[in-house]
Amino acid sequence: MGARILVTGAAGVIGFELARQIAERGDELVAIDCGKKGGLEDLDALKAKHPGRVTVMHDDLAQGPLELDGRFDAIFHLAAIVGVQYVTDHPYETLVVNLRSTLAVLDFAIRSKSGPFFFASSSENYASGVDAGFVKVPTPEDVILSIDRIALPRWSYAASKMAGESAVFGAASEHGIQPVVVRFHNVYGPRMGQTHVVPEMLARVKQRVDPFPIFGADQTRSFLYVEDAGRALLTVLDAARNGASGLFNIGSPDEKRIDELARVIFDVTGFHPKLELHPAPPGSVARRAPNIAKLAGLGFAPRVGLEDGIRACWKR
Ligand SMILES: NC(=O)c1ccc[n+]([C@@H]2O[C@H](COP(=O)([O-])OP(=O)(O)OC[C@H]3O[C@@H](n4cnc5c(N)ncnc54)[C@H](O)[C@@H]3O)[C@@H](O)[C@H]2O)c1
Repeated sequence: MGARILVTGAAGVIGFELARQIAERGDELVAIDCGKKGGLEDLDALKAKHPGRVTVMHDDLAQGPLELDGRFDAIFHLAAIVGVQYVTDHPYETLVVNLRSTLAVLDFAIRSKSGPFFFASSSENYASGVDAGFVKVPTPEDVILSIDRIALPRWSYAASKMAGESAVFGAASEHGIQPVVVRFHNVYGPRMGQTHVVPEMLARVKQRVDPFPIFGADQTRSFLYVEDAGRALLTVLDAARNGASGLFNIGSPDEKRIDELARVIFDVTGFHPKLELHPAPPGSVARRAPNIAKLAGLGFAPRVGLEDGIRACWKR
């Protein structure tokens, strides 16, 4: 038996892929998710595929202390409320769930003296600084984190992620846990819901919407296919088990304009509508791309190009 690993948010887009890769490589997995977004049946299928090595728990981490037996060689805390629209509509719930669940999992990590603690954080934490002009793009890990207008509901998510990062480093200095904060940058994949630019555009292609609305055509993002995100996490895990800690960007270095993304989607799907250009939604950040030199230094490079990743999503 390999390592014993806990993954929270294991029914989610990234969490499930990570869980799958952990189980495939022979480690023991405890997977927790409350099923807020579905996907629990995929976890049950994973458990059936790896008898005796995968435990699935349908728990709401925000509801109270996390009680589990024994220690873990690593903990990945990915469970969170995610998605700009949901967060904008539920800013208080976002803070309550994200903060309570992070503190519950951290408290357990401290009590159980578990190994490296991975916290899923976000490029949202420095996004305001890009627009304000004091954060460069591609963005490395050691940047000033900031929030543009704290009263705007959408920033509750970044606030919860900044507080989470701070809690992880605080627990490290006060209780000796090994802190690993991973900042994800636009991870996408076939199990995604509809609230992300890739599935949103694919849904419009499916409905043959013509003219095709594009919001913020000249904004940029970098897109990482979920399988690569899972491999990146395992790369950092292996480094962490050899003592590495701190902040790691996880994303693709390939910065794409939103209209370029649309063209890839049209090429893959064979649908070529006229474009109808609209301004970006309010609060949407102009540019976002990570500097992944630190991750690349551990031997990671993305393998799945945007076209192949989109094709996999389209097939699903
Ligand atoms: N996908 C990205 O590009 C991206 C970017 C930045 C940060 N992140 C972070 O990475 C993590 C995973 O993101 P994702 O895209 O897989 O999101 P996701 O929404 O697909 O997965 C999150 C999972 O957490 C679960 N969850 C939520 N609240 C819970 C609770 N109280 N108890 C138990 N489970 C709970 C949900 O049911 C869901 O399955 C999140 O923390 C997210 O903030 C992701």
